[in-house]
Amino acid sequence: MKSFFIALTRNPISLFGAAVVTATGILIVTLFTFELFGFEGGPYSGILAYLILPVLFIAGLLLIPLGIFRQRRRDRQAAARGEAPPAFPVLDLNDARIRNRALVFAVLTALNVVILATATYKGVETMDTTRFCGKTCHSVMQPEFTAFQRSPHANVRCVDCHIGPGAGWFVKSKLSGVGQVVAVTTGIYPRPIPTPVHNLRPARETCQQCHWPSKFVGDRVKVIPGFGDDEANAEQKTVLLMRVGGKEGSASKGIHWHVDPGVRIRYLSDDKRETIYEIEMRNARGEVRRYASGAAPAGAVWRTMDCVDCHNRPSHTFHMPVEEVDTAMSDGRLPKDLPFLHRESIRLLKAPYPSQEAARKGIAQGLQDFYAKQYPAVAASRGAAIRDSAAVLGVIYGSNVFPSMKIGWGTYPNHIGHENSPGCFRCHDDAHKSKDGRTISQDCSLCHGLLAVQEKDPAILKSLQQ
Ligand code: HEC
Ligand code: HEC
Ligand code: HEC
Ligand code: HEC
Ligand code: HEC
Repeated sequence: MKSFFIALTRNPISLFGAAVVTATGILIVTLFTFELFGFEGGPYSGILAYLILPVLFIAGLLLIPLGIFRQRRRDRQAAARGEAPPAFPVLDLNDARIRNRALVFAVLTALNVVILATATYKGVETMDTTRFCGKTCHSVMQPEFTAFQRSPHANVRCVDCHIGPGAGWFVKSKLSGVGQVVAVTTGIYPRPIPTPVHNLRPARETCQQCHWPSKFVGDRVKVIPGFGDDEANAEQKTVLLMRVGGKEGSASKGIHWHVDPGVRIRYLSDDKRETIYEIEMRNARGEVRRYASGAAPAGAVWRTMDCVDCHNRPSHTFHMPVEEVDTAMSDGRLPKDLPFLHRESIRLLKAPYPSQEAARKGIAQGLQDFYAKQYPAVAASRGAAIRDSAAVLGVIYGSNVFPSMKIGWGTYPNHIGHENSPGCFRCHDDAHKSKDGRTISQDCSLCHGLLAVQEKDPAILKSLQQ
């Protein structure tokens, strides 16, 4: 034991390594104990305890033999100069001293393994949390995290969609994650983050853990609120009968026909998946059909259609100004009785601002000025309502536009529908033709029944309520 410590203290490298191992070991155990007793650190303490410290811990462990190795070499050189040669240790287990030393070594190693295993396990757990994904790289992920928190998937962990179950994809994503961490720390990541995400795990293995395709059945009524740009912000509702459908008995029809297990659709498109040149469809009866429109340029890629080819924004749903203002008026966050509020809100939301902070100020000022100039009486009597409306618009802006990440209105188009981007009409445009002259239909009643379009008081809603 004595000579081991002498060997250690004789060279500074091993000594430093031993100090690092002891210090980080104690820190890891302390942080872990803290957590056992319910203390909740921020995401950074998680990274420190379970990612950075263990790396230092291992580095320390490696330094110890490295120092001893260098010391030995120095000893040999000393011997060459004629100094007394250092004796090599004799590993004789009959010797009680050696036995004890081996025992201490074994116990310490076992302890180190336990510490490292715990740290790694906790590290993995930390990286799985939404907080880790959304907050650690906050400026980068802020747009996605903000949109995520307002989405129906706010309680689904990032990793449930981005990684899914199984070790293979976990390793794959963490390996590509190393590059991302480097990009984020050095600030050389692209703004905005480019989509589509090419190495996303196939949706059938993630989404379908929770949503089962054979459960999409029949039609569903969808009421879309709307308001006019007139002085009264006149209400105008749209009512659609969405043919959500999918597997029904042995056949399959409606929107979720595309993901029937018997159906396979592949398409050839540009890298952005916005322009589609060719579509190959194999239906449940085994018929194969190819639809094409024009020649595809070099660099076009084939892809098999799955959930995210339509639901490309299931969680990071960025909305457009009209949609946001309509929803806010419909649920009462914006008053319907401030003259021209609908029109003015959209105008102010669409104006350019250098930052979210500037937008909040600019919108508040703009709204104030409008009423002061056009409706002085309203400005005087409804001051609080105008201020509250401006605050709501500020939140809407801050949830959709991120100047620091170069994300503006419509930067990330949503493929559900056809209002704000081609969406379904990328294929359903009656322009992609098969050899026998068939096209992919744009018939208005294929995907939805149009029960009412922008009507003040749709008769259909009255009859449904009776
Ligand atoms: C319900 C599933 C789901 C959840 C939960 C989810 N994502 Fe995503 N995310 C997606 C899909 C699908 C895309 C791919 C969009 C595309 O390819 O066009 C994506 C894309 C992204 C992108 C690329 C940029 C963009 O906006 O397309 C980032 C960054 C991202 N997600 C981060 C996160 C973070 C951080 C969380 C957790 C706070 C999270 N995601 C949770 C499904 C999800
Ligand atoms: C861990 C479970 C889970 C996973 C994985 C998951 N979802 Fe969901 N999804 C939910 C829950 C819970 C809801 C909310 C249901 C509700 O509000 O009625 C939901 C709602 C939805 C909705 C309806 C949204 C609305 O506005 O009504 C869509 C569309 C959807 N998910 C698509 C997807 C897609 C696409 C994926 C894969 C990229 C996915 N989900 C992955 C659990 C999940
Ligand atoms: C061809 C495009 C398309 C594909 C592919 C697709 N969906 Fe949908 N999905 C839609 C549309 C359109 C709606 C209706 C949206 C609405 O009413 O707002 C919808 C609605 C839903 C809903 C809400 C269900 C309901 O009854 O209202 C869920 C959940 C969902 N999809 C999940 C999935 C999952 C999971 C997959 C992959 C297995 C998938 N979708 C594939 C287009 C698609
Ligand atoms: C990648 C191309 C592609 C995209 C994108 C696409 N579809 Fe389709 N869709 C097809 C093809 C191919 C058919 C089958 C045409 C045929 O019968 O020959 C089809 C058929 C349909 C059908 C009829 C299914 C039946 O037989 O009852 C509906 C409904 C439908 N699509 C809805 C949608 C909706 C809604 C969207 C957007 C959310 C969408 N599609 C986006 C390729 C696409
Ligand atoms: C390939 C499927 C498909 C076809 C064909 C189609 N639509 Fe749609 N339409 C959709 C989907 C999906 C939505 C989005 C529903 C939602 O908001 O979630 C939609 C939404 C709409 C809306 C409501 C928009 C809003 O947000 O206020 C109107 C209006 C509409 N469609 C009209 C039409 C008309 C008119 C045609 C015929 C030219 C047509 N659609 C053809 C799939 C289709």
